[in-house]
Amino acid sequence: MTAQLDATVALVTGASSGIGEATARALAAHGSSVALVARRKDRLDALATDITGAGGRALVVEADVTDRDQAIGAVERTVDELGRLDTVINNAGVMLLGPIVDAPVDEWDRMVAVNVQGLLYVAHAALPHLLEAADSGKRRVADLVNISSVAGRVARSGSGVYNLTKHGVGAFSESLRQEVTGRHVRVSLVEPGAVATELTSHLGPAGQEVVRQRFNAIEILQASDIADAVGYIVTRPRHVTVNEMLIRPTEQEG
Ligand SMILES: NC(=O)c1ccc[n+]([C@@H]2O[C@H](COP(=O)([O-])OP(=O)(O)OC[C@H]3O[C@@H](n4cnc5c(N)ncnc54)[C@H](OP(=O)(O)O)[C@@H]3O)[C@@H](O)[C@H]2O)c1
Repeated sequence: MTAQLDATVALVTGASSGIGEATARALAAHGSSVALVARRKDRLDALATDITGAGGRALVVEADVTDRDQAIGAVERTVDELGRLDTVINNAGVMLLGPIVDAPVDEWDRMVAVNVQGLLYVAHAALPHLLEAADSGKRRVADLVNISSVAGRVARSGSGVYNLTKHGVGAFSESLRQEVTGRHVRVSLVEPGAVATELTSHLGPAGQEVVRQRFNAIEILQASDIADAVGYIVTRPRHVTVNEMLIRPTEQEG
């Protein structure tokens, strides 16, 4: 890979596994320094060791993005220790599927807290720094990439509140895009289909059954497939924005 992101700094939420981990590796391979944000510090430490071992620069930031002070602290630590902020990948998320009727409401609270509030807290804290990078950085452009889902486009029985959170991410991203694109902060929405990660490991039996019925017979995506897409988005020339990218496994119909 070419080091197109040399001298830039990225922050990736949910970097301890799956899409976030793969994206942090991809951005580091493009030459960016990366702040790795999540709660599982041991996983972040191992990833940072890999990235630095490959000649990159990584900062481990243990934080729960649902806590506003911790989300702000993650952004501020990144800027304090890595010097600036050019790229934010708002990726942390949970998917707790199952019927709405008689659902455990604490699962809804968790999804809204991580997928919506956590994403908003990080975006709000990061935007002044992204605007500054776009205004005065060498590249004169900055990126905020929000990870949504096919579930942000299509609602289905069995995923109502996950659908709600991801549709919300899409609406927020489009509104913010219009607000800041004239100042060269590019807001992009990535909508993966089924990806082989730990996302489904938090599901109870009802949710596992929904996933089994939908995806057991097909070859699903790897986290690196989504990381490739994010790498493409953030390495475009200044005058090009990829507003939205919907990426399904070839065999995924809906
Ligand atoms: N896998 C799929 O099929 C798929 C499809 C479409 C969209 N997505 C989206 O892709 C994103 C990444 O998911 P994934 O598939 O890579 O799943 P994953 O392997 O379970 O990764 C989720 C990440 O989010 C982090 N996270 C969860 N709660 C957090 C919190 N309160 N504070 C900080 N970090 C938190 C986790 O880290 P800690 O637990 O260490 O905090 C983990 O690093 C999510 O937004 C998901 O909705 C996934």
